[in-house]
Amino acid sequence: MRLEDRTVVITGAASGIGRATAERCAEEGARVVVTDIDSDGGEAVADAIEADGGEAVFYDLDVTDADQFHAVVEEVAESYGLDVLVNNAGTGHPGASLENVDDSIRDFVIDVNVKGVWNGCHAALPRMKEQGHGSIVNVGSLASILGLPKQAAYSMTKGAVLNLTRAVAAEAGPYGVRANTVCPGFTDTQLLEQYLAQRDDPEKAREEMAEEYPLKRLADPEEIANAILFLASEEASFVSGHGLVVDGGFSTC
Ligand code: NAI
Repeated sequence: MRLEDRTVVITGAASGIGRATAERCAEEGARVVVTDIDSDGGEAVADAIEADGGEAVFYDLDVTDADQFHAVVEEVAESYGLDVLVNNAGTGHPGASLENVDDSIRDFVIDVNVKGVWNGCHAALPRMKEQGHGSIVNVGSLASILGLPKQAAYSMTKGAVLNLTRAVAAEAGPYGVRANTVCPGFTDTQLLEQYLAQRDDPEKAREEMAEEYPLKRLADPEEIANAILFLASEEASFVSGHGLVVDGGFSTC
């Protein structure tokens, strides 16, 4: 059991990568704090984990609300402790050239993808530094290391996540706190469905997308969750400030 007696807080855990991460962490013995703006979905994830013999609770948490993030982290830390924070919640935007992206869409994506991660680090770091240990795993994207066409706002925010994480690793390392980023390639989740739904033929677009990957397929959420689990656990005890690309080799060829 790689996370026995550990408490793991995961944002955006009602669905996709967050959900898979919650399930994997519970399988490895963690007490999982499932958080999301989707209360029904989040509660269902926590209930399913408990039904499987794991330990999970659900908290409503909108990552853009700094006060709420601080309150949830404080309550969790007092009740269960706080060992790992996975800042996973994220959002996309309709594909469009930069000059056609409304400021409101740009700001929304920044609020969720950048300020949401910032809020999580801001809430968790004082406690983690004080206790002398902690692991933060932020979910970036291939768009953290590549600039994707018609995804300028998303790429901007995911690049920021990677470098914010490096700064956190540098600052908090002396206190025994690690911070890392996981950068997934396209992964089968509802976010990807929304992205594909903008195409004339979503199924054909999915096949073409998969064909561009050396492994000729997209990732399953569990494959990203396994990378997050590794970075969260003591197996990665000397890994900090790292951006772990999990893209089936896409970005290397
Ligand atoms: P998803 O749509 O399946 O799950 C995202 C979850 O975040 C949902 O449960 C949603 O309710 C929640 N959420 C959205 N806004 C929130 C907010 N303000 N506060 C709290 N929760 C909120 O998407 P997926 O794919 O699992 O995405 C998870 C992360 O992975 C995101 O950061 C995304 O950018 C990243 N990612 C996804 C890729 C993909 O191809 N699916 C590729 C690269 C990165």
